[in-house]
Amino acid sequence: DGPLYLDCDTGIDDALALAFLLGAGHPPDLVGTVSGNVGAAVAADNTRRILSLFGYSDIPVAVGLDYPPLLGHPRGASQFHGANGIGGVTLAPVRTPPPPTAGAVDELITLAQRHRGALHIIATGPLTNIAEALRREPDLPDAIASITVMGGAAHVPGNVTPYAEANILGDPEAAAATFTSRWHQLLLVPIDITNKHLLSVADKRRLLYSPSAAVRSVGEMLNWYFDSYRQEHAGLWCPTHDPLAAALAVGAVELTDAPAVTITVDTGMGPQRGRTTVRANAGSDIESSPRVALGTRQQSADVIIDAVCSLADT
Ligand code: BDR
Ligand code: CA
Repeated sequence: DGPLYLDCDTGIDDALALAFLLGAGHPPDLVGTVSGNVGAAVAADNTRRILSLFGYSDIPVAVGLDYPPLLGHPRGASQFHGANGIGGVTLAPVRTPPPPTAGAVDELITLAQRHRGALHIIATGPLTNIAEALRREPDLPDAIASITVMGGAAHVPGNVTPYAEANILGDPEAAAATFTSRWHQLLLVPIDITNKHLLSVADKRRLLYSPSAAVRSVGEMLNWYFDSYRQEHAGLWCPTHDPLAAALAVGAVELTDAPAVTITVDTGMGPQRGRTTVRANAGSDIESSPRVALGTRQQSADVIIDAVCSLADT
């Protein structure tokens, strides 16, 4: 229920999260892109192509902010996502020119004001756009029903450095600003849990053998993703970072362990830059406290793949 804003850096698993949302009946009302896996403009182009592939070219895609002008942040993640962000898969260019949009930050603020208190945010890239929206509109959290953030490493090592996860390391200052704002509901979905929700080769094959060319192309992106995780998973499994966050945000997967926490981010320029420290929040404001997703009732693979496969029927 309520309108949905997706902020992403598409990205193979961002693409899978987007396809999941479409198939699960939760198409975003607006997508904003941010630099992370690829630059914000490339991420927007990838996003538009995916939306058009599934017949959703009417969903506006707004280009967001580029890499923050700071030292020490990673640029791109081509080893995991391919140079074009979607595993080298070539998707047909969108024929119709995109509807004019302001930048992602302006569009987010406008949407939040139009739906005061009802807008849900899912963020699957660095938090650059969200932090800029907060800087311009400090009251933004009041207008937002919930924000679900894929990112961070709570009690496990990072996936880019021994301490930091990619989305947080992409813009630690933005993450710090986001986590210290008082949202009604903030859920952090860290790699602690996304690395435990794996897709198998059989899951990937369900996409690759779909009667729909659009669904098959998502499977082709996953070929690259499985290969990039071959050291950890021998090419047999891949994690579901962004789609798990999307599935939790729309309630398609049920949380069983999500303690109230405070989240701090290392914004120093040392080796721990981008580290998220998650501590139990025993304070009095427990109701509106951020939570961290650590356990779910069920595995998410079927939920994600069923939703994407259902797009073949439309
Ligand atoms: C996150 O980093 C990106 O590479 C993925 O798209 C995901 O959002 C995982 O650490
Ligand atoms: Ca992402």
